[in-house]
Amino acid sequence: MDKKLNIISLNRKAWNNVAEKYDNAKYSEMNPAIDFFCRELPERASILDIGSGTGLPFAKLFLEKGFNYLGVDISSQMIKIARKNVPVAKFKELSMTDLSFDKEFDGVFSHYTMLLLNPKMFKDVARRVVKSLKANGFFYLSLNEPGVENTDLDEDVICEIMGETMYSRAYTEGEILDIFPSLGLKKLQIYRETQNSKEFGTEYMMVFVFQKIG
Ligand SMILES: C[S@@+](CC[C@H](N)C(=O)[O-])C[C@H]1O[C@@H](n2cnc3c(N)ncnc32)[C@H](O)[C@@H]1O
Repeated sequence: MDKKLNIISLNRKAWNNVAEKYDNAKYSEMNPAIDFFCRELPERASILDIGSGTGLPFAKLFLEKGFNYLGVDISSQMIKIARKNVPVAKFKELSMTDLSFDKEFDGVFSHYTMLLLNPKMFKDVARRVVKSLKANGFFYLSLNEPGVENTDLDEDVICEIMGETMYSRAYTEGEILDIFPSLGLKKLQIYRETQNSKEFGTEYMMVFVFQKIG
């Protein structure tokens, strides 16, 4: 079977099944790179949030800041919850692998979503993200980097999260910087934070803010 279809359908099913649990747990938190991203954006910026989840806290935050927001997510259950949590926000059921926007957004936001893609899909979505951005637009990307050096990053990528089997992979700083600068993005900031939770254990969060050149 096509590997892309495999990962996408595996993750769609998993996130549909954990949507309610994820909403109750409220895992996602603010970090200084999100403040930086918001400060860099122009007034009334248009923002595309890829893998918008439950809408909390980010759809609510972006609307409070006066931004024009669109959240897309592969999971119909997540979309349903997000519409209930933030009724005034716009949400659409769409996989980030199918993004087809062309210079429409001042900012693209991906918080813990592109780590759900394998490297081949990641590179394809990266091109779609860059195409979605207007000239000088900003891209926020958070994911996990490996805790140990020289591990096989493609081992254990099919894992159990919140009782559901899904694909999730750590990415190194080097891998990310091999992709986005060559697509025309300039790195503005990297922020790191170690996070501990009962559900996910220790995670090494790595956040990038990029700007599209020209
Ligand atoms: C870890 S959650 C993060 C949700 C939200 N960004 C947050 O930080 O609270 C991952 C989200 O990505 C969504 N997702 C997984 N694969 C996706 C895909 N291919 N395209 C769009 N969304 C996807 C899941 O349904 C889920 O809502």
